[in-house]
Amino acid sequence: MSLSDIERLTLGVFPTPILRLDNVSRALNTNVYIKRDDLTGVGLGGNKVRKLEYLLADARRQGAEIVFTTGGAQSNHAMLTAACALRLGMTPILILKRRGVTDCRGNQLLERLMGVDVRFVDTDDYADIYAEMDRVGRASGRPYYKIPCGGSNALGSLGYVKCAEEIAAQSPRFDHLICAEGSGGTMAGLALGAKLYLPETRVYGMMVDTDPFDVITPRLMREAAALLGEAVEITPADYTLRDMCGPGYAVSSEEGAAAVRMMAQMEGLFLDPVYTGKAFAGLIALAREGTFRPDDNVLFIHTGGAGGLFAVDMG
Ligand SMILES: Cc1ncc(COP(=O)(O)O)c(C=O)c1O
Repeated sequence: MSLSDIERLTLGVFPTPILRLDNVSRALNTNVYIKRDDLTGVGLGGNKVRKLEYLLADARRQGAEIVFTTGGAQSNHAMLTAACALRLGMTPILILKRRGVTDCRGNQLLERLMGVDVRFVDTDDYADIYAEMDRVGRASGRPYYKIPCGGSNALGSLGYVKCAEEIAAQSPRFDHLICAEGSGGTMAGLALGAKLYLPETRVYGMMVDTDPFDVITPRLMREAAALLGEAVEITPADYTLRDMCGPGYAVSSEEGAAAVRMMAQMEGLFLDPVYTGKAFAGLIALAREGTFRPDDNVLFIHTGGAGGLFAVDMG
């Protein structure tokens, strides 16, 4: 079994472009590039489209008519799942935690525009949330499919294994690859993909939540490798994790807000305060610590999040 044998729908526009950030590169004394996964072609773009190409292929194969997923109130993943499901003629139902801004701003506004069935639950426990999906799904009498928070299971992670394959076919060659880590699938996919297609590239996951990513990342890498039938050994030496969460998940950090402003003011590109701003702050910190040489090529994955930019107070 190889990556191309696994069923995948075409939902996005790929490959996404890679651009050199000339002003940021000058400021950080290395070569910084950005992969525009904020331009994946559905909704306002973002990383989840790559995962959903695999997850919704599985949903369709199983005959699902309803697609459930979950996340915080401003989950980019939930919004993009709804957008992709609607395109496929499926009915999305979002069972969201009351974590974050619940009024009609940001992704809540986009979900309202799409006419999506959004239900809030007063629990942070995913077991309760998945039980609620089963309850609603069974009551509907229609076949349904459950996508986990962030689309971060082994199948969803394959979207970023494929992204690593895509990067390997683009130029230049990268010494370092940096992404945000929120539920783990993007980082795990990239780290496994780098092992397979970019063996010279170091992958860094900038953790924007407090989950045990030192356990989640290798587990997802192993499970995704098993889906591919790849007998690769995964060790902590395969990747680097860095805590960039600051005051908390979905709470703007000072470094993250400064990074959002730096990207906007130097390059006219917009990051978000929850994921990409904190991840880019991690890149800036690595540069200032001397991790990158002047002739290194550093690739920042812009995983999207535009919807959330309009729902978080950045002061
Ligand atoms: C904009 C954005 N960037 C990064 C991430 C992190 O990706 P992952 O959940 O795969 O760790 C997410 C979702 O959590 C996101 O919405």
